[in-house]
Amino acid sequence: MNLDDIRLALVAELASASTDAALAQVRARYLGKDGVITNLRKNVDFSKLSPEERKAFGTGFNTLKDQAEAELEAAKVRIAASGVRDAVEFDYTLPGNDRRMGAIHPIVATTLEVEDIFRSMGFSVYHGDEAVSEFENFDALNIPGDHPARDMQDTFWMENGMVLRTHTSSMQNRALRQLGVPMRAIFPGRCFRNEALDITHENTFYQLEGMMVDKDVSVANLIAVMRDFLSAVFRRDIEVRLRPGFFPFVEPGFELDFKTTLNGVRRWVELMPCGMIHPVVLRNAGIDPEVYSGFAFGLGLTRLAMLRHGIPDIRLLNKADLRFNQQFPAAL
Ligand code: DAH
Repeated sequence: MNLDDIRLALVAELASASTDAALAQVRARYLGKDGVITNLRKNVDFSKLSPEERKAFGTGFNTLKDQAEAELEAAKVRIAASGVRDAVEFDYTLPGNDRRMGAIHPIVATTLEVEDIFRSMGFSVYHGDEAVSEFENFDALNIPGDHPARDMQDTFWMENGMVLRTHTSSMQNRALRQLGVPMRAIFPGRCFRNEALDITHENTFYQLEGMMVDKDVSVANLIAVMRDFLSAVFRRDIEVRLRPGFFPFVEPGFELDFKTTLNGVRRWVELMPCGMIHPVVLRNAGIDPEVYSGFAFGLGLTRLAMLRHGIPDIRLLNKADLRFNQQFPAAL
C-alpha cells in the first residue's frame, strides 16, 4: 500500500465513524503500537536505503502522520458538534422561554361573554364572511343602489363586485335562508368602512347582529331580550328606553338607550339600534311576513368593549401595542 492509499483508507474509515469510541479504534488501527502507519517504519530496513531514499521515506512518513493527526482532529470536532445537535433537538412540549403572559384582547373577551349570554337565552351563534355580495350587504336589507343610506356606509369594493361588509346586518339574509324560521341567532364579526379616523371612528371594527323570528314576535319581546341581555353584561338591573330611529331594514325602527353613569353623570346612553324586521327583508329570504315576524338589533362590540373598560380612543384597539393589551386580564 503506498502512502496515499493509506491516507485515503483512513479518511474513508473516519467518514463512517460517528462516536468517540469509533474514533479511538481508527486511531489505534493507524497510529497505535501495531498501527498501519506505525508499522511502515518498523518494516523498513534502513541499512538497505541510500541517504536520499532514507530522506524521502522520512519526509513521506512524517507528512502522512501529520495528515492522519489532522484528519483525526477534524473528525473529533465533527462528532462533538453532532452530539451538541442531538442534545438541543427541539422539544415542543417545553414551555417557551418568554414568560411574559399574553392577554385576552378586550374585544375578544367582550364577544365571548356576549355569546354566552345569548346562548343562555336560546340564541345560536352564526359566523358569516367578511367579504360579502353587494346584495347581502345592501339590497337584501331594503337598501337599493340609489338609496341615500348607502352614503352612510362607504365601503371597500373588490374587483369582483364583492364588498367588505359594512355591518353584520349583511348576514341577515344568509342566516334566514340557512337556519330557517323560527330562528334565534346572533352573528358577531368584523366590519369595515371607509372612514376618516378619529377617536370614535375606525375603518375596522366589530359588531354583533341579533335576530329573533317566529310567529307573533313583538316589540315587547325585543325590549325584554335587550333588557335581560344588558343586565347580564353590566351585572345589574338595566333600564332601557326606545326612541324612533330610521333603518331601511326595520319598521318600526328604534334607537335603544340604556341608563348609566358616564363621566360621573347619570344619563341615557345610545347603545343598540333595533326594530321589527321589515317585510321586504323577510320576503327577500323567502319568508312570508304575513305568518312570521321578528326583531333585529345591532350592537357595536367595539363600542361596548370601550364602554366597559373606559377606553377613550377606538384606535387603541387595533394598534397591537403591548402596553395597551397587557392591561387586560390574561384569562377570562
Ligand atoms: N346595521 C346597522 C348599522 O351598522 C345597525 C342596525 C340598525 C342593525 C338597526 C339592526 C337594526 O339590526 O335593526 O348601522
